[in-house]
Amino acid sequence: MSLFITFEGPEGSGKSTQARLLYQRLQLRGYPVILTREPGGTRIGEMIRRILVDLQNTEMAPTTEILLFSAARAQLVNELIRPYLETGGIVLCDRYADSTYAYQGYGLKRDLEELRAMTRIATGGLLPDLTIYLDLEAEEGLERKILSKQAHESRKAQEEGLGGSRVNEGGSIGSSFIPPPEWNRLDARDLAYHQRVATGFRELMLQDPDRWRKMDAHLPVAQLAQAIEAEIEPFLSRVTPLEPL
Ligand code: TYD
Repeated sequence: MSLFITFEGPEGSGKSTQARLLYQRLQLRGYPVILTREPGGTRIGEMIRRILVDLQNTEMAPTTEILLFSAARAQLVNELIRPYLETGGIVLCDRYADSTYAYQGYGLKRDLEELRAMTRIATGGLLPDLTIYLDLEAEEGLERKILSKQAHESRKAQEEGLGGSRVNEGGSIGSSFIPPPEWNRLDARDLAYHQRVATGFRELMLQDPDRWRKMDAHLPVAQLAQAIEAEIEPFLSRVTPLEPL
């Protein structure tokens, strides 16, 4: 047996941090585990990711965007996820097909049934055993993302000897939300889009409540990590820990 766990959530929900922490915990406990991400995770997938996030690609048609996410996913499932699951290991994936339904389906208002059909082609129908959802309002997530980017910029400025903070472009989220210039093409969509995405995730959860685990993204990082570990605990009996060296 094997275990396939995905992490989903709006921008700034902290899912990448939590995916990494769970990966480290499972490794420490001796489980065979890999951590990967979407879009990306393979050499070809990372090349596709660069096209998807490039701010210069303003002319990208929604269908192109969907096909590129699907192409990266097909490569990841074929090259990494399926082979690893076949060895009986645990795969943790930072985003998966539910992101396409939330972002391109609800966010870009594309037909969900078409997206599901395309996803079946890309994944051969591979579904996660469990999906950890870090729940947060879209506004809060974007706010967090701006703050962390500002902190990063001002650290960089200090390191470069410029002193102080150079950045304040993002401002706070409100009706006049202006994304800071360093955001990628997908971050930079407007607040209404990100709100539709968050609503979409909640609807997806309602449609398949057994697979999803909704977690409170406001919890302190360590406490949230413990809560996530507790949620997956019952599933770990499917996987045999590695023999100690
Ligand atoms: P990600 O690396 O998870 O970014 P972040 O950690 O900043 O949320 O995902 C990159 C972006 O791609 C993110 O804005 C969500 C978007 N995305 C889609 O629109 N559709 C998809 O199918 C996937 C996997 C991601």
